[in-house]
Amino acid sequence: MDSQIAEPDAAARIASIPIEEIDVARPSLFQNDTIGLFFDRLRAEEPVHYCRESYVGPYWSITKFDDIMALDTNHKVFSSEAKLGGIAIQDMHSVEGALELEMFIAMDPPKHDQQRKAVTPAVAPSNLQLLEPIIRKRAGEILDELPIGEDFDWVDKVAIELTTMTLATLFDFPWEERRKLTRWSDVATAAPETGIVESYEARREELIGCAMYFKTLWDERINEEPKNDLISMMAHSPATRDMPFLEFLGNLMLLIVGGNDTTRNSISGGVLALNQSPDEYAKLDADPSLISKMVPEIIRWQTPLTHMRRTALEDWEIGGKQIKKGDKVVMWYLSGNRDESAIERADQFIIDRKNPRHHLSFGYGIHRCMGNRLAELQLRIIWEEIHKRFSRVEVTGEPERLFSNLVRGITRLPVRLRAR
Ligand code: HEM
Repeated sequence: MDSQIAEPDAAARIASIPIEEIDVARPSLFQNDTIGLFFDRLRAEEPVHYCRESYVGPYWSITKFDDIMALDTNHKVFSSEAKLGGIAIQDMHSVEGALELEMFIAMDPPKHDQQRKAVTPAVAPSNLQLLEPIIRKRAGEILDELPIGEDFDWVDKVAIELTTMTLATLFDFPWEERRKLTRWSDVATAAPETGIVESYEARREELIGCAMYFKTLWDERINEEPKNDLISMMAHSPATRDMPFLEFLGNLMLLIVGGNDTTRNSISGGVLALNQSPDEYAKLDADPSLISKMVPEIIRWQTPLTHMRRTALEDWEIGGKQIKKGDKVVMWYLSGNRDESAIERADQFIIDRKNPRHHLSFGYGIHRCMGNRLAELQLRIIWEEIHKRFSRVEVTGEPERLFSNLVRGITRLPVRLRAR
């Protein structure tokens, strides 16, 4: 058994671990949801913490809100470059057989800025306005199919379906085949330990299959009139139409993964949070106009991406600690989002907070999430449509969580609906 899994007396056992031995990279801590207790300790005792030995090698943890902001906005010192290790705690280039795709989330300026600019129109306010009625119609169709008064899995029937549907709409992806997008998103982030793929080679094969599929769509659309979907937009835009294919694929994967797991887990996380805080659910029931404030609070509470990683390009002092050039530095958004010195009553889910967008879930600085308004739009529509139909989405069993230190995922959530 993992020595840092500390059930049933989690708090007491975690308090007794010598601080220098704490290793928050272990995916099991996220799966058994004891990770918050570790972060509480680090924020209180050693907010900038060095872990000497772990399965991902040595790394720094940054756990306070303001320190994370300082790092995330300092891209000149803290690099996202894939060749230095990229943006996750596990170095991408250390993974045997992994497909190394070019994507702008793992680039520094100037290339990052040029590529980001090329795909930003897909999530511009004017495009979101066009998407809103389509997302609403499809959300309604999914919700209308659900059984009332019977247990079912919210993750599969609603969270995955809704986010996949929005992605399919964004890409104008063949509708009947849209679950391919879910699969590719899962495969792109999966390590073999998760059981989603058998090996890194198997993952590579599947992602090449994804590339070929998108190439066919690209080839069709480049010969048609420009349309409003992402592929057509990229195929026709002077800034992107000549992108090398691996760059096109890398950026597609970024949009698929960025927009899928994150929003999916916010949809499930919101249901769970409301069930764990019945007073908040009662507030929502009485006043659905709170939904637009509740949405960023759900995203803070869930923190769908637990961290982003950077590599130090020079020596740097932070929180009284000396980070050395070349060190791996992890900004734990999940911890910063529970930091009482930056967020009032940070350990509570409160749907009518005064300043609900004051959170770290979308990151900060030049890499701040490009799809943040699209994510919020989807969540707002979904909750509006849920509220019209159901007085309660009641959680009826224990949630199951993903074995991952990056995606804070809920893999199964049994629920029962009460009609309004
Ligand atoms: C970047 C979170 C939804 C596309 C990011 C980053 C985070 C994040 C933490 C990195 C920020 C940084 O390094 O400072 C989330 C969360 C979402 C979400 C929590 C949902 C609740 C979406 C959606 C899209 C998207 C729907 C689809 C368009 C991207 C892209 C980047 C990004 C393209 C790279 C930006 C860059 O490097 O400049 N996201 N995301 N995300 N996200 Fe999201």
